[in-house]
Amino acid sequence: MTCQASNELEQLVLQARPYSSQGKLATYIPALEKANPSHLSVAIFHLDGTCTYAGDYKQRFSLQSISKVLSLAYVLARIGDEEVFQRVGMEPTGDPFNSIAKLETTKPSKPLNPMINAGALVVTSLIPGADLKEQWEDFLDFIRTLTGNPEIAYNKELQESEFSTSYLNRALCFFMKQHGIINGEVEKIMELYTKQCSIEMNCLELAQLGAVFANNGRNPVSGEQIIPVQIARICKTFMVTCGMYNASGEFAMKVGIPAKSGVSGGILGVIPNRCGIGVFSPALDEKGNSLAGWKLLEFMNEKYNFSIF
Ligand code: DON
Repeated sequence: MTCQASNELEQLVLQARPYSSQGKLATYIPALEKANPSHLSVAIFHLDGTCTYAGDYKQRFSLQSISKVLSLAYVLARIGDEEVFQRVGMEPTGDPFNSIAKLETTKPSKPLNPMINAGALVVTSLIPGADLKEQWEDFLDFIRTLTGNPEIAYNKELQESEFSTSYLNRALCFFMKQHGIINGEVEKIMELYTKQCSIEMNCLELAQLGAVFANNGRNPVSGEQIIPVQIARICKTFMVTCGMYNASGEFAMKVGIPAKSGVSGGILGVIPNRCGIGVFSPALDEKGNSLAGWKLLEFMNEKYNFSIF
């Protein structure tokens, strides 16, 4: 991989960094509070295999909700869309990512989409495997293949921190178990889910993984079809309509690319047939999106005009 520092991107990072002081670190997962709120990094991975980066590009961070796109792609590929969409819908929601409200009022009762916590917990419950170990190892292998890094791992301290405080996610699981939307043991689903959320990478690896989606599921370097074309398309569609939670409409207006954020401050961006983008800055706005990360993408769009609309 040929990766180079970019002066042009560095200028945009300089312009966006001050916004990080207006955001706040996520605190409901205790270990996330340890992040440095002024960090900001970006990488772009082009489909010709070259990449550029700027800012604190070596900094590793956990995927959190970005992992929802990856578990969705994995489960769709392994068990097929019919089984998945019986249990989770395709519509955006105006509610916060961890809201329980619509579960009770939607008929038949199922989460509105796989990008909110309820929907992602359903998807995780569908990860196939004989036991938790096999489920986790096979899924992690998939992430390693996507990033081209066989050493990708999860952060145990972070995982334990979330696992021991996830009362709301457990509540979502129990509600859905009562209504027959999920099967299996809630504690096992929670373990798998908190592990996937705690997978760590840097912005370069995130950008490389984004390039696979940008390249319709095919690894731009090796040419290997890692995700079927149709599944890559489903994921990108969800990223546009639901990827930035209840700010997805505004993000589509201001940046205009499939994207997925996480409460660690990471944002995965995909510009179809062009490149993958990885951004990280841990200070968040009130909806849980990275504040400086979002601003940086806005500045990048102004400069490179990458909105798909
Ligand atoms: O389940 C949770 O609450 C976290 N592990 C992930 C949430 C998240 O990243 C939402 N992002 N904006």
